[in-house]
Amino acid sequence: MTSALETRIVSAPARIAALGMFAPKRILTNADFERMVDTSDEWIVQRTGIRRRHVVGEDEYSSDLAIAAVDDLLAHHPSVRLDTIDYIVVGSSTPDYEYPSLSAMLQAHYRLPGNVGAVDISTACAGFAYGLNLAAGLIGTGQAERVLVVAADALTRSVDYTDRSTCVLFGDGAGAALVEYSRHPAIFGMDAGADGNGGKFLYRTALRTRINGVDDTSRLLRQEGQSVYRWVMENVPNYVARILARAGLALDDIDWFAPHSANLRMIEALCKRLPFPIERTLLSVEEYGNTSAVSIPLALIPAVRDGRVKPGQRILLMGFGGGLVTAGNVIVWT
Ligand code: ACO
Repeated sequence: MTSALETRIVSAPARIAALGMFAPKRILTNADFERMVDTSDEWIVQRTGIRRRHVVGEDEYSSDLAIAAVDDLLAHHPSVRLDTIDYIVVGSSTPDYEYPSLSAMLQAHYRLPGNVGAVDISTACAGFAYGLNLAAGLIGTGQAERVLVVAADALTRSVDYTDRSTCVLFGDGAGAALVEYSRHPAIFGMDAGADGNGGKFLYRTALRTRINGVDDTSRLLRQEGQSVYRWVMENVPNYVARILARAGLALDDIDWFAPHSANLRMIEALCKRLPFPIERTLLSVEEYGNTSAVSIPLALIPAVRDGRVKPGQRILLMGFGGGLVTAGNVIVWT
């Protein structure tokens, strides 16, 4: 199946028509963490590049972040009418509830008709790229003309603030994209992958609390950082190659690289390995920390708004995270 797909260019008659983003007001700096755990600004910056993270307030949840990002999309694109969308796809590993889903909560909040499809996907840090791929598929098969793709995560709600090896890494936020039918395909090379054996390196228990030979009833995020780092370095270059093959492109054809902004040092090493210039890589990790599904929109949207990303340019999106799962594509900015 893979080889057949790789012999033809995979594209979708779809484009991103509008974008929105939001990060909560509350900020935690490295100095704040120096007061909470045995760490230092120097260690955090040297190992991760993170300087600040925006984190949810006491009464703020992923649905609030998602709504704020959609409101921001509407504020930047006043001609968008949400009552014309056919589907809502939300990528999040930190929904307010098991159900109702975030997508159904958005349908209710914006009083959208009852025939809107609403689906949440649990693909961790691959959520935004995965959401775009699913939206492209829905549009390509005629099930939808307009899909609202939202990534929303409040990972700090499931971080162990006594574990210095994880608590300094994460932040919260949301991003939204309106994907619509277009006669000129602008989403290419949609690809996805999984390595469930690596799930033991990054997990959060739920109904089932025994994992990896241990009982963890905390329901907090647990990560074996070095193992994830190694997995990314060994596997992500192959996933990038698959996306390019499916898009019928070479790395030289790519104007901007937007990988999951998990760790600046890891992205620098990844860029060296590909190789791709770090100067043309879109990042959000320094200001926002690792925001899971949201890290790509938080990097992409400022670059679109400040004019770095220009119409006609190609951006390679590469999401990867808990599962372990990956999703990626090449979008042409229109
Ligand atoms: N401050 C000070 N020291 C620390 C801290 C901290 N915050 N955290 C760990 N240390 C110490 C450790 O205890 C260890 O000390 P020791 O040598 O005395 O035992 C030392 O620093 C080195 O620890 P490592 O875990 O080996 O540190 P490493 O260089 O691997 O950096 C990190 C850790 C930043 C987590 C790195 O492994 C990483 O980024 N991994 C990838 C994670 C990732 O990308 N996840 C993204 C995908 S999934 C998702 O986004 C949800």
